[in-house]
Amino acid sequence: MNVSRIGADSVRVRPPAKLNLFLEVLYKRDDGYHEIETVMHAIDLCDEIVIERTRGTAIEIATTGYPAPADGTNLAVRAAEAYFSAVTRRFGLKLDLKKIIPAGAGLGGGSSDAAGVLTALNTLEDHPLKHADLELVAGSLGSDIPFFLTGGTAIARGRGEKIEPLDDSHVPAQTFVVLFPRVTSPTPLIYKSLSCDLTTPKRDLHRFLEDLGRSDRGRPPAFFNALAAPFRQVFPMLARKQDEISAATGRPFHVSGSGSAMFAVVENERAGEEVIEVLQAMAAGDTFLTRSLRRRLGTA
Ligand code: C5P
Repeated sequence: MNVSRIGADSVRVRPPAKLNLFLEVLYKRDDGYHEIETVMHAIDLCDEIVIERTRGTAIEIATTGYPAPADGTNLAVRAAEAYFSAVTRRFGLKLDLKKIIPAGAGLGGGSSDAAGVLTALNTLEDHPLKHADLELVAGSLGSDIPFFLTGGTAIARGRGEKIEPLDDSHVPAQTFVVLFPRVTSPTPLIYKSLSCDLTTPKRDLHRFLEDLGRSDRGRPPAFFNALAAPFRQVFPMLARKQDEISAATGRPFHVSGSGSAMFAVVENERAGEEVIEVLQAMAAGDTFLTRSLRRRLGTA
């Protein structure tokens, strides 16, 4: 994630959202987590965090935009605490967080904010952690966080914390319309509602990756999300909305992660604006026109 210096003691990061282009659940583990295989794809819908180094040792946070906790429970603050524990040094911090990415939407906003704080603190630190150690800190805070240290497009395995970056040249850049239906979806409940039938055949990740590599603007790949079924079961009204917006716009809308955001591929911005007009006429929720966000060289 790119960190820009804006003063002697302050930096700015723009943590991006992600979409899950593919998500298969392999089995439920003994530790209660689910073993997954997913393709995470960063998009240019970004929060913004200004991080200022202050005297003392207190960590303060202020938030604007979509609701987010303005206290120690915010993942951005927990990330700073975890970072300081890992380097066994600390200083004071003021975090100014602008929430542009809705929380509880399956877009990874909170996780990305945490990764942004870890990355920023590592640039302010005289003896920074190695990428692998930063990944360990990230993974201990949440399954989705390590991905955002790398960004771009990546395969995530394990509970989501084991990252294999994919070369951008194998992943066509796409334009997406994202809808936030103004309902938040609790990830643990969606996983709990999933029926883990070991006899059902699993979707093949490698076949999806081949399809993704061959896809272009006119022919998006066959996105897949095993969490879509339990999401639709838990939120029947949102299932209806997903069907209605897909029918009204003529594009299949897909659930990202454990929901509630849904996305569709469009050929270009113009087509995206037309889709958004239809969604707004239906009062479907908050809409975003976004594009794939490439990994910056040297950040993987
Ligand atoms: O890792 P994270 O704190 O983001 O996960 C939130 C919750 O989602 C977990 O407590 C667990 O209930 C569920 N989860 C899961 N399997 C995963 C990731 C998350 O069951 N691979």
